[in-house]
Amino acid sequence: MLTDPQKAGYETDGFLVIENFASERECNRLRARAAELVAGFYPSSSVSIFSTHEQTRTSDDYFLSSGDSIRFFFEEKAFDPQGALRHSTEQSINKIGHALHDLDPVFDKFSRVEKLRELVYDLGYKQPLLVQSMYIFKQPNIGGEVICHQDATFLYTEPMSATGFWFALEDATRENGCLWAIPGGHRAGLKSRFLRASSGGTCFSVLDSTGWPLDQLVPLEVTKGTLIVLHGLLPHMSLTNRSTKSRHAYTLHVIERDCDYPADNWLQRGPGMPFRSF
Ligand code: FE2
Repeated sequence: MLTDPQKAGYETDGFLVIENFASERECNRLRARAAELVAGFYPSSSVSIFSTHEQTRTSDDYFLSSGDSIRFFFEEKAFDPQGALRHSTEQSINKIGHALHDLDPVFDKFSRVEKLRELVYDLGYKQPLLVQSMYIFKQPNIGGEVICHQDATFLYTEPMSATGFWFALEDATRENGCLWAIPGGHRAGLKSRFLRASSGGTCFSVLDSTGWPLDQLVPLEVTKGTLIVLHGLLPHMSLTNRSTKSRHAYTLHVIERDCDYPADNWLQRGPGMPFRSF
């Protein structure tokens, strides 16, 4: 699946851009399915805002029990001061997570397609587990910033084994909030872990308090259908979408079965629904 230069580039940079990985049709199928899921979602009783700035708001039960569910999280800027939605629900959702790949047939099929399986094994996995999926909307005008982070902070294993697969379902540009990454930044080690706190809720355990060299960030502008493979330790982020265009993406994360997955990782599943492979 991967050429030697691609493997070498991934080792050097910590990310790999594969254009035209998903077809126009596959991208549109996921977009249509996400729209159907949102149309069937009635937010009155279960509003939860996703924000990497406001940790306490992501610590509620709705978020913490979403590891084996399909749940909907709002943009922080979707609400007016009175707490009412400024726009329609479909224009207000930040993301859907975190088990689309196991619970929804359309996302299951996309996530377990043969060429992705081949790619994952090509990256060196022996027994890959598909642990987390997210459909990210990055809504026009209000799509929030995701601050610089490493995915292994949220999907910690010993040893580190997380890899992210980020599929552009629309063209992603600087204008509508594309990914930015620090090439080679994956070699500097993990800076923090996001944990379930023993007192309830969540917290960060800081392993290295130095800041990110943000001046080294490069934009990853990609066309619809592109897959970006992200090493679990690669620092990356995306800015606020201030444009009138959305920037839909689907992400899938994989870990190695043999690695230890701590019980205080935020993402957990009930006994009836263990992590599965391809
Ligand atoms: Fe990420």
